[in-house]
Amino acid sequence: MANDSVGRTFLVAFLVCFVCSLLVSGTAAGLRAKKERDALSIHYRNVLRVTGLLTPGTDPADFWRERVEARLVELDTAQYSEDFDPNTFDPQRAAGDSALARAIPSQADLAGLRSRPRLLPVYLIREGDEVRQLVLPVYGKGLWSTLHGYLALEADLVTVAGFGFYDHAETPGLGGEIDNPRWLAQWPGKQAFDEQGQVRIEVLRGQVDAADPQARFQVDGLSGATMTARGVGNLLRYWLGADGFGPYLERLRREGFHG
Ligand SMILES: Cc1cc2nc3c(=O)[nH]c(=O)nc-3n(C[C@H](O)[C@H](O)[C@H](O)COP(=O)(O)O)c2cc1C
Repeated sequence: MANDSVGRTFLVAFLVCFVCSLLVSGTAAGLRAKKERDALSIHYRNVLRVTGLLTPGTDPADFWRERVEARLVELDTAQYSEDFDPNTFDPQRAAGDSALARAIPSQADLAGLRSRPRLLPVYLIREGDEVRQLVLPVYGKGLWSTLHGYLALEADLVTVAGFGFYDHAETPGLGGEIDNPRWLAQWPGKQAFDEQGQVRIEVLRGQVDAADPQARFQVDGLSGATMTARGVGNLLRYWLGADGFGPYLERLRREGFHG
């Protein structure tokens, strides 16, 4: 076959494509394990960030192995479920799976979600034999997007240990101020529930008056972002309430962490 023949040209093009496709698919397969490790590391960091316990220089995977116990909670029964691995259970996929999700009655749907998974992972942060914090996944509608975050409660299951979002698409400088460390710094120490067990945590429209006895339940609003701030308050009220983690938290208060 002559060097400049049509057949030779196609043969060379085919061989180049074939070799390139082998290189690309080989690289993708080789990187898959690293991608999964990276995704897990991001997940660990997102959960641990709200605890405030991850010191600089500590590998989140080491902290996770030593101090985190992930459990799946069946929200309606308040019991733990062994049906899936809590470390790999994907709540967002479950929310779209009719077998694993259930509709939220409209009068209870404070977070604007319409449906939610029957099961959700929770993270018990241990210190020796004690549980020091409980981290709950929380999410709900802001103004433009669904806000995804974690809320850490101290072992009394009332006091906020930390709070923050790891995914949303609110406007930077407006709703995006929910990521502002100064705003987030107000949350630790706030009381999520009153003595009667009612969910009381709220984001105000203005500033908290420190002299007000209610201040222990309140966080400053975000000026120019009232809608996003309202979404934050609503999603917390939903997830801490009767349709969310409320029954599970009540059970833990009654029975302790090992009930
Ligand atoms: C381009 C644009 C982006 C906005 N983004 C947000 C936002 O991310 N979150 C929010 O609550 N309000 C946002 N707003 C403002 C809302 O429309 C609304 O005015 C605001 O929530 C009211 O808050 P305020 O009463 O504190 O001013 C945006 C407005 C504009 C024009």
